[in-house]
Amino acid sequence: MERFSSISMAVVRRLPKYYRYLGELKKNDVKRVSSQELSRITGFTASQIRQDLNCFGGFGQQGYGYNVDDLYQNISNILGLNKIYKTVIVGMGNLGQAIANYSFFEKSGFVPQALFDVNPKLIGLKINDIRVHDVEELEDFVRENNIDIGIICTPKSQCQKVAESLVRGGVRAIWNFAPSDINVSDDIIVENVHLSESLFTISYLLKEKEEVLKSKKF
Ligand code: NAI
Repeated sequence: MERFSSISMAVVRRLPKYYRYLGELKKNDVKRVSSQELSRITGFTASQIRQDLNCFGGFGQQGYGYNVDDLYQNISNILGLNKIYKTVIVGMGNLGQAIANYSFFEKSGFVPQALFDVNPKLIGLKINDIRVHDVEELEDFVRENNIDIGIICTPKSQCQKVAESLVRGGVRAIWNFAPSDINVSDDIIVENVHLSESLFTISYLLKEKEEVLKSKKF
């Protein structure tokens, strides 16, 4: 994937977590937070947090910490969450429907314009008030409606073909849930999501805990 800045992906991947926790603080009417407090909540070290935020200009004040509302707004701007992105979801089975019905994404600015599937039983239906179209119409729809992001929820065997239609239509990014890597040109941003990786991490940590407890018994 082509990058346009020297900010490391590790920093970029921590920003949404800062944003989420700051959102919680805001909800609880907390006005100010130190990097030590942020460290306790997020699990990152205070110096890591300061370093990350310094990549974008700092935002904190010596002896005061961070103003929660300002930092939340600044991170929202850095993440580009002050914009509206037009999306389409392809593959309207269990996962596609769950994403279409999850209104948080839309509230965050990722607005589904249409849904697509091959199944004639689904085509023409509305899910969360958004129409399911025949996937044959995907490329033209994306082109005519200037879609920014394609969300792939098809079986693995179909994801490359779908990705190519999305790219020909002109999407700038793909959020891929199918358990297979897709090959597209370098200028397309691709995020692969694997819930199983998080689940397998739990499995590892449970196993590790059991082994330590077992070794302590002997
Ligand atoms: P599903 O079988 O319920 O839905 C798949 C849908 O895709 C069906 O409605 C089917 O008609 C449609 N489809 C098939 N070929 C198509 C094509 N060429 N164009 C458009 N639509 C097409 O499957 P489910 O459970 O919703 O999973 C969808 C995908 O997401 C699978 O690849 C699955 O492995 C993956 N998945 C990934 C997860 C993750 O963490 N990344 C978690 C759960 C599922």
